[in-house]
Amino acid sequence: MSINITWHGHSTYSLDINGTKLVVDPFFDGNPVAKRKADSVAADYVLLTHGHGDHIADALPIARRTGATIISNFEIVNWFGSKGYDKGHGQHIGGGFQHPFGHVKMTIAFHGSALPDGSNGGNPGGFLLTVEGKKIYIAGDTALYSDMALVGRAGLDVAILPVGDNYTMGPDDALLALDYLKPKVVIPCHYNTWPVIAVDIEAWAQRVRQETDCHPEIMAVEGSFAV
Ligand code: NI
Ligand code: MN
Repeated sequence: MSINITWHGHSTYSLDINGTKLVVDPFFDGNPVAKRKADSVAADYVLLTHGHGDHIADALPIARRTGATIISNFEIVNWFGSKGYDKGHGQHIGGGFQHPFGHVKMTIAFHGSALPDGSNGGNPGGFLLTVEGKKIYIAGDTALYSDMALVGRAGLDVAILPVGDNYTMGPDDALLALDYLKPKVVIPCHYNTWPVIAVDIEAWAQRVRQETDCHPEIMAVEGSFAV
């Protein structure tokens, strides 16, 4: 019974759940901070929060090579179908489904979701995972929103939040998000990939320690954290 989270830089994570491999928002080959290439990544499921290139860049090659099931919103799953990959499971905001590895509920996000070719990527989202009795919230790219309080009611073990500002919540709003979410552990993402989302992450972690009851887990690229 174990869940292991590995950060690949930006918003790209692998979750190993008792040997089942989930890859979230795969962005490897064009990712300036990634240390591995998409062709070395194992996946049984690929979870996509929204259609932007820095979240789906390597989804198709990984899925084709591994035969992974793509879990995302209906529009994005259909778009992969139009590219010839129809092993997908479409969900949508507010909807949950019991997959073999655990329960996945899609949560709201305030952001965009256009696909790289301009296709409609539906509404952006996040994921609330319930696996092995643990609750893991992956916010996706989003602004701060007060309904995070409803997500927090689940009793979160881990929240993975964007903190880079400019495209998503910045450090200040991410701190406020912790007020709503009250996770035991927060893992920041979507920062320091490019200069426009540069963040002094140690300074932010210090504020988390001082101002909240939450433990900040600052991961190194290719670092892992066991839930
Ligand atoms: Ni985005
Ligand atoms: Mn993004």
